[in-house]
Amino acid sequence: MKQGIKNIVILTGAGVSAESGIDTFRSAGGLWEQHKVEDVATPEAFARDPDLVLRFYDMRREHIQQVQPNAAHYALAKLDAAWSGNLLLVTQNVDDLHERAGTQRLLHMHGEHLNAWCNACDARHRWHGTLIDRPACPACGVAGRLRPDIVWFGEMPYRMDDIYDALDQADLFVSIGTSGAVYPAAGLVREAREKGIQTLELNLEPSHGSSWFTKSRHGPATEVVPAWVEEILGS
Ligand code: OAD
Repeated sequence: MKQGIKNIVILTGAGVSAESGIDTFRSAGGLWEQHKVEDVATPEAFARDPDLVLRFYDMRREHIQQVQPNAAHYALAKLDAAWSGNLLLVTQNVDDLHERAGTQRLLHMHGEHLNAWCNACDARHRWHGTLIDRPACPACGVAGRLRPDIVWFGEMPYRMDDIYDALDQADLFVSIGTSGAVYPAAGLVREAREKGIQTLELNLEPSHGSSWFTKSRHGPATEVVPAWVEEILGS
């Protein structure tokens, strides 16, 4: 294990999936340039125009099933498998590329495209098809109450207690492929700094929170992530 580092928390964002062919949110031509956040990613939008929101997420759900994990996802899965200390990969991504690459110690703080959530009975189901056709919930049988299991703006990200607990134990916090524009994820680096632990940014370019990191490396995720993983595994 590298220089006193035993427990690691890794935060990933859209940049880690960009080279798999999934649009990021805030780049030029990114998703939030093509669509207004307030039209597709808020509970108010869903109440106002459910067809628009369901169609948007149906298309995204279909798209993520056509792309493949890239070298960055595989490198992180290799690290997860090999690392004997604690490791938690916290992803803001709603695709399933980390798990398809093999990462097991993983938490989706912003939900998952491949889950549907029933607003009638609160059950969650693995979902690969569409929701626009208002299917019935497999648990309670009520039709038309399933929504994408995505954390929309104004909603609370998932499992924050688990994330803060892991950060409490961590010796290293690594942020990969995220602009640092969306809280509370963007605030994790400050929490880490306040605990006095090492913080590393791996991103195409300096993020909004770049100055909070003790170290940073800039470049495409498929290059900088495998290189860092090889280094920390000492191979
Ligand atoms: P953003 O689109 O805000 O930021 C993506 C970051 O990845 C940027 O800093 C890019 O420079 C970087 N990037 C792009 N291509 C890269 C590459 N090939 N290798 C490495 N880095 C690259 O996406 P997020 O930070 O993930 O929330 O956005 C956070 C949240 O905002 C998302 O989870 C989503 C969105 O609204 C919800 O949908 C709830």
